[in-house]
Amino acid sequence: MHSSYQYKDGEFHIGDVSIAKIAESVGTPCYIYSYEFLKDSFLSYKEAFSDMDTLICYSVKANSNLAILKSFSDLGSGFDIVSGGELLRIKRAGGDPGKVVFSGVGKTREEMKAAVEAGILFFNVESEEELNVLNSVGTELGKKAPVALRVNPDIDPKTHPYISTGFKKSKFGIEIGRAFEVYKEANTMEGVSVIAIDAHIGSQIFDLTPFVDSVRKLIKLADDLVSEGMDIQYIDIGGGLGISYKKEEKPPHPKMYADSIMKEFSGKPYKLVLEPGRSLIGNAGMLVTKVLYLKEGTAKKFVIVDAAMNDLIRPAFYESYHEILTVRQDSKGSEVVDVVGPICESGDFLAQDRELPVVKSGDLLALLSAGAYGFVMSSNYNTRPRVAEVLVKGSEFSVVRERETYEELLSLERIPEFI
Ligand code: LLP
Repeated sequence: MHSSYQYKDGEFHIGDVSIAKIAESVGTPCYIYSYEFLKDSFLSYKEAFSDMDTLICYSVKANSNLAILKSFSDLGSGFDIVSGGELLRIKRAGGDPGKVVFSGVGKTREEMKAAVEAGILFFNVESEEELNVLNSVGTELGKKAPVALRVNPDIDPKTHPYISTGFKKSKFGIEIGRAFEVYKEANTMEGVSVIAIDAHIGSQIFDLTPFVDSVRKLIKLADDLVSEGMDIQYIDIGGGLGISYKKEEKPPHPKMYADSIMKEFSGKPYKLVLEPGRSLIGNAGMLVTKVLYLKEGTAKKFVIVDAAMNDLIRPAFYESYHEILTVRQDSKGSEVVDVVGPICESGDFLAQDRELPVVKSGDLLALLSAGAYGFVMSSNYNTRPRVAEVLVKGSEFSVVRERETYEELLSLERIPEFI
């Protein structure tokens, strides 16, 4: 746990702020983020890569709240985006579009146009057809859209299959064996300018070898392209460094990651772009929920809480583990329980067969490591309003997204006259 998380007089705090106080004022469930934690995470990356010309582009999909984006922007971060909506968020948060890279296999013409007009750093183009469309958008606008091709280095990142992206069989990127030809084609196009190479091999990766293998392939390709007369300035190695969800998980520190990457770049003219998401914000956030009921089945004991799979889908979707702490340390003993939400699905669990301190109705629980892919993957399933988000800095806290209301949920729906 980060030094800003601690129990004071038996009450869980972030810095000086009591989680119970926030829950009382904002209600539950709610996501709570620590500014100090995200800042330290960003600065440890920055420091680790300080020996090289590096642009850290925080991956917006991990947590796209405007206050989080503004915090990273003020720390000097660029951004990795995957949609026109995320581009708008960067603008609203006061981010610099000149430090934005745009990834994703399905960019639309409109999204491309908006990004060219905003003056982003480069597009990570994921297919030849996309390249043709981008060329036509650039030509129409009388501009050259800056591009990297996202190449698929065919590397096994040894992580969950849903978040492995660098295999030959995955939908992402252009096979590295074909990339040279596609680059040559791109280099003749009027509406694009080739300036970079990109890859992203997956997420929640602990082993540095796949990163190094990928970087080697990218540098080799960049050297070949430069010999062909192309002006490759940036190598974007994507995101993916894992975080610790369980105490015993020990991901590499950004310093170890940086050292192994920078070694490969020694003597090379390229600038480095990184797209970390989870490792910048994952452990900076938690989901706080209240115990509603206890229910004893013949085979299991259930702790029914007010948060559900619609609020945090990771356990149901990836069978992922989130450590759970009681907000108040007053329990006598522990027991093995399932922590489940109110949704009508057996998959609606937040933890299964988990040893937890004995709790009672009304107690607060904190699900840790929920800052990344938590709120952003939440939904309104079962007509449940998405929860409030809160940012804590020093002794202050503020709601950075209001809890949705039922009226807001229904406001976009219409009953047509023909029924
Ligand atoms: N760049 C690209 C092109 C990506 O697709 C991703 C994540 C990142 C960067 C950031 O990766 P990170 O540093 O956060 O590992 N919802 C899943 C994770 C999906 C990751 C998708 N891409 C989860 O909850 O584990």
